[in-house]
Amino acid sequence: MNNEQCCTISCESPLDQKHWDTQYKAQATGWDLGAIAPPIQNYIDSLVNKESRILIPGCGNTYEAEYLLEKGFTNITVIDIAPTLVAMLQQKFADNPNIKIVLGDFFEHQGEYDLIIEQTFFCALPPFLRQKYVWKMHQLLADGGILSGLLFNRTFEVSPPFGGSQNEYEMLFKEAFVFTKLEMAKNSAEPRKNSELFFEFKKNSTVQVRLYSFEGITCSGCMETVSTKFSAINEVLNVSMSTDFSEVLIISKKEIPLQELQTIVSYDEKYKILQIES
Ligand SMILES: C[S@@+](CC[C@H](N)C(=O)[O-])C[C@H]1O[C@@H](n2cnc3c(N)ncnc32)[C@H](O)[C@@H]1O
Repeated sequence: MNNEQCCTISCESPLDQKHWDTQYKAQATGWDLGAIAPPIQNYIDSLVNKESRILIPGCGNTYEAEYLLEKGFTNITVIDIAPTLVAMLQQKFADNPNIKIVLGDFFEHQGEYDLIIEQTFFCALPPFLRQKYVWKMHQLLADGGILSGLLFNRTFEVSPPFGGSQNEYEMLFKEAFVFTKLEMAKNSAEPRKNSELFFEFKKNSTVQVRLYSFEGITCSGCMETVSTKFSAINEVLNVSMSTDFSEVLIISKKEIPLQELQTIVSYDEKYKILQIES
């Protein structure tokens, strides 16, 4: 039995707006803790600047925002893709100037934040979006900005949620972020005890974080070969390819010309690489 389930209606449907809205309409929100997660509450208690620009993506019932407001924070934005939920939040927080409630896709969102709080959003996304998540988080954060929250340190038989491990997160986020904390959460809510990591990652503003669409790879062997070739470029610090082989994230000390990347993979005429613009 998987108590965290995000798909009480159907796990076959794509994880799009319709899927998530259906869960809220049916009140099938198995992931909802009903209260702020204690590790995030402790973290908020340690924050000093009440004017920090804070974003909570995939906010759900957003107990975090409620707590931030209670503590006097004045610049909170929450975003979720599910219209039924967002309409409810707009009513709940009506006339509160300290919180902005946005209906939309996180990956389309524009803004600049000092802190982004992760709570059961990363794990709700199909894993092929993980490289895009790193790229987008890096873009949305101001210099010195922080991404912090909880990530599962386990796998699930039925997904979503999609699990992961500390090693996997290290490989994914390395060089784009400086890891100031990544450890087993000490005071998780009961259903998530010993199964989640608390993290605090600081944006690394000294590097280029670029996302490219990639065409032509059909197996993990070819993915390994391409990743190894890109990793061998002098200025490249980290290369990570999406699980469906359609996107590649490259972190580098300086901009790598697109033509150079295309030339490196020109040994196979099927391979096409294009930069994804923000
Ligand atoms: C597992 S729920 C977590 C909700 C909340 N953070 C919590 O912990 O209770 C995932 C949330 O992400 C939202 N979501 C999924 N994909 C999204 C996207 N691309 N942009 C914005 N929100 C999204 C869903 O509507 C849902 O509310």
